[in-house]
Amino acid sequence: MGTDAMTTDTTAPTAPAGPAGIDLGALEAEAARIRAEAERQLAAVTDLSALDAVRNELLSKKGLVSGLVKMIGTLDAAARPHAGKVINTLRDGVEALYTARRDTLSAAALDASLKAAAVDISMPGRRTLPGRPHPIRQTQAELVSIFSRLGYTFREYRDVETEFHNFDSLQQPDWHPARDMHDTYYVSPAAGAAYPLDQGQYKFNLLRTHTTAFELQAMAARGGQGTNPLREVTTGRCYRRDAVDARHSAVFHQFEGLAITEDASFAELKWVLLQASKQLFGPRTQIRLRPSYFPFTTPSAEVDCTCPSCHGKGCRTCSQTGWLEILGCGMTRPEIVELGGYDSTKFRGFAFGMGVERIAMLVWDLDDIRMLYENDVAFLSQF
Ligand code: DAH
Repeated sequence: MGTDAMTTDTTAPTAPAGPAGIDLGALEAEAARIRAEAERQLAAVTDLSALDAVRNELLSKKGLVSGLVKMIGTLDAAARPHAGKVINTLRDGVEALYTARRDTLSAAALDASLKAAAVDISMPGRRTLPGRPHPIRQTQAELVSIFSRLGYTFREYRDVETEFHNFDSLQQPDWHPARDMHDTYYVSPAAGAAYPLDQGQYKFNLLRTHTTAFELQAMAARGGQGTNPLREVTTGRCYRRDAVDARHSAVFHQFEGLAITEDASFAELKWVLLQASKQLFGPRTQIRLRPSYFPFTTPSAEVDCTCPSCHGKGCRTCSQTGWLEILGCGMTRPEIVELGGYDSTKFRGFAFGMGVERIAMLVWDLDDIRMLYENDVAFLSQF
């Protein structure tokens, strides 16, 4: 704002000549002095609160401009209208100076507060990591999906099992040496978890040592008289008192299947396992069956597949043999088919079971089972 223009304005009305000329001249001089004083004071103010005080000093009823009004009484009547104009011009001019200064200062204050509250929009936002299924879960889901395409239904069963379902019904009574391979966590009978002994079969609860414990329950759920064929898979946690190392964990997962039909055969079992292996490890995969022993199947076999890393040539993963053991299987014992409510002269069964961690380690070429349990985000985010 040009203060020069204002300065000129105050002196714009020219004083009429006359006897009162001297007094009028004094009033004009005083007006110019006040005008100059107002310019100086307003320019010196740097914040809005101080500006109010300056305004009071200049323009309030007891201010400098109002003080000038009192001088009018000392003037001749003829000089008074001109004096009034001089004072009005001064008042308007100071008012305009004040408004201009106020606008400048409040614009600066707004600017400063905007700067203080500024958000740096070039700063990268906080990254939220989307969750994803754990590799064990992914492997379980993949197995369930492969077997559902082969006609198998899926159900989950309980982790805390009866000794009957986990062992006895699977033809492993107390004295059976095969129980030694399953170092079992028993649930304390003192905690009220003991089963009634009156049926001779129920003893303690335990944490299932294998998902094979689902067999009788799957058959019983199949309904009534044991006439409906069954093809079912399950998966879940299993527990054994194993020392943890690169290959063992006290808590691990199994995937298990059972078929009870009128024409179940060893040939069908072999075919199903070959199809599943090809889908898991690739179409070039082959399998071989080695005779083995499990209390709940006869005959029993262990199944190897061609090493997915070297396709059978021999490498570190397969210890140069070209083969990797992936599961156990066999024809379900007729005693178990009968226990499940089926007529074993009409129905036959086969079953297979595998370690989910072992499959996951083969699919992704992992060499230590513990990586799957450590919840290391850097490791897990690769899957
Ligand atoms: N339950 C066995 C284990 O934990 C694995 C197994 C072998 C499951 C043969 C089966 C089977 O269903 O037929 O070592």
